[in-house]
Amino acid sequence: MCGIVGFAGLRDAAPVLLDGLKKLEYRGYDSAGLAVMKDGTISVTKVSGRIASLCERTDEGRSMPGFTGIGHTRWATHGAPTEENAHPHLSNDGRFAIVHNGIIENYIQLREELIGQGYHFDSETDTEVIVHLLEMYYRGNMRKTLIKVVNRLKGSYALGVLCSDEPEKIYAAREASPLIIGLGLDENYFASDVTALVANTRNVIYMDDGDFAELSGDSVVIFDGTGRTVSKESTRISWDVQAAEKGGFDHFMLKEIMEQPGAVKATIAPRISEGRIVFDEIDISSAELADIRKTVITACGSAYYAGCAGKYALEKLTGIPVETALASELRYSDPLIDEHTLVIVISQSGETADTIAAMKECRARGARVLAIVNVVGSTVAKLADHTVYTWAGPEIAVATTKGYTTQVTVLYMLAVFFGEKLGRVSKKEYDKYMMMIARLPRHIQQAIDMNPLAAALAKKYHSSKALFFIGRNTDYAIALEGALKMKEISYLHAEAYAAGELKHGTIALIEEHTPVIALCCNQKIMEKTLSNIVEVKARGAEVLALTFRDNQKILSEADDLLFIPKVDSIFSAVIEILPLQLLAYYVARENGCDIDKPKNLAKSVTVE
Ligand code: M6R
Repeated sequence: MCGIVGFAGLRDAAPVLLDGLKKLEYRGYDSAGLAVMKDGTISVTKVSGRIASLCERTDEGRSMPGFTGIGHTRWATHGAPTEENAHPHLSNDGRFAIVHNGIIENYIQLREELIGQGYHFDSETDTEVIVHLLEMYYRGNMRKTLIKVVNRLKGSYALGVLCSDEPEKIYAAREASPLIIGLGLDENYFASDVTALVANTRNVIYMDDGDFAELSGDSVVIFDGTGRTVSKESTRISWDVQAAEKGGFDHFMLKEIMEQPGAVKATIAPRISEGRIVFDEIDISSAELADIRKTVITACGSAYYAGCAGKYALEKLTGIPVETALASELRYSDPLIDEHTLVIVISQSGETADTIAAMKECRARGARVLAIVNVVGSTVAKLADHTVYTWAGPEIAVATTKGYTTQVTVLYMLAVFFGEKLGRVSKKEYDKYMMMIARLPRHIQQAIDMNPLAAALAKKYHSSKALFFIGRNTDYAIALEGALKMKEISYLHAEAYAAGELKHGTIALIEEHTPVIALCCNQKIMEKTLSNIVEVKARGAEVLALTFRDNQKILSEADDLLFIPKVDSIFSAVIEILPLQLLAYYVARENGCDIDKPKNLAKSVTVE
């Protein structure tokens, strides 16, 4: 939540900062601002609303000349999304400007202390205390001042700072919020995410918690909390700027839906060698695996639903019981987790606060933690015992699509990998599963191609008051994600129900023309779901069924249809979700919603 950028070099900073902020807007889009330094004076421009307004207000940055600067796009936590609460914040003497991503937990005490010292506040934010602390502690040495200030802070922060006494420099600090340094030619940058950097450089340094950085056009110095210089390796980003562009699509979400065959292939391919699954990142011996009594999958939102979908294959092939737990619940649940537990943490961003906290809780109890994560160098990736990257490339739309399918793909591969290591998967089964996994990208493409009518169906269903998603077993797990996609981007009330549960209460809500989206792809349980379809139809529901083309029984009962190719349900989630993603996308489009930036949401949820 919130994105920050910084620039120091030999050209005007504002246009570079605006470009970077546009790339970070998915992180929060309530307000935005820039601070630029010229001739020892800091000028600030802030707007409530989108980066487009900031571009307009600053004439695309031209009205703010100066070679060093910082910028911010906000997802409001403390205080409404007004211009006053927008970052950057200035110190009372105008010497410092700061941008901040994170939460300062002890800001109330600090605010009282600073007011007592005579400082006045212009905003309701937690952030503003930091800039006044800078003014209070400053004695002419920025490094020392920054260290002193962060020692007073409790919480999380990625900070960007300007000091008018050092017109060629920008400073940064990190604790539990992402921050990356970009290394350019005669210019250097920082940003919350590499997407904001790749247009200028692919050479980056991932900052760790407790790191500080001092950047000018020709130097980058990383130092620690004692002021000592720290040497850090730089990393080269493999994907290019097009990966973070819309590439002719109207929305990132549609582009990312269409990228799924490629993303799943990129996730699978490096892990298959001579017909076998190889996870170089996982050094668990068969004996250690045999010592595991249960697996706990923990995550938030869609990543949690990916866990729900993957649980079936994992449990079936490993024979180890699998529990799924929402990270926000697990962290406070005093969980029964010990050294005999394998915890699988799933996160696209790798920065989700609840997920990180749950992960720490599990580690503290002795569990071995395996992370499935998309963003390289993210906090989750760094904290895990074993990190398996999903290689989906940058996901920009707030609603995840390729993030989800690549996460489930990894779970499927882990199921086969662990199952075989444990001696529970025969050679014949192994070969069959390998073939099924290798075919996933093709089947995903077919699921996209089989649903040209998704847009037309959206015209019928977009004005519904509420939509019910029903299914059993794997179909139910996928329904959970289908319903979340629908509600988060179209703002329609959509809920997933285990089809067998309808009669225990929910069916009371079914009335004439209530849309029921019935997932009927799990062949073992299809007859049972069919009975539930008949029951809701008898009460007037309009049924949109998701099934195979030759499934006559379902075809004859349903009012409308979405299709997937015929596949075994053990690995079907990554295929079955496609038509539901498309439906949600087109419904949101019909409703005129801001699909890539749904209201009240942000891509990376770094607050509790
Ligand atoms: O980055 P993460 O995978 O940890 O994010 C978890 C959830 O915040 C995320 O999946 C969220 O539910 C998405 N908006 C769903 O589309």
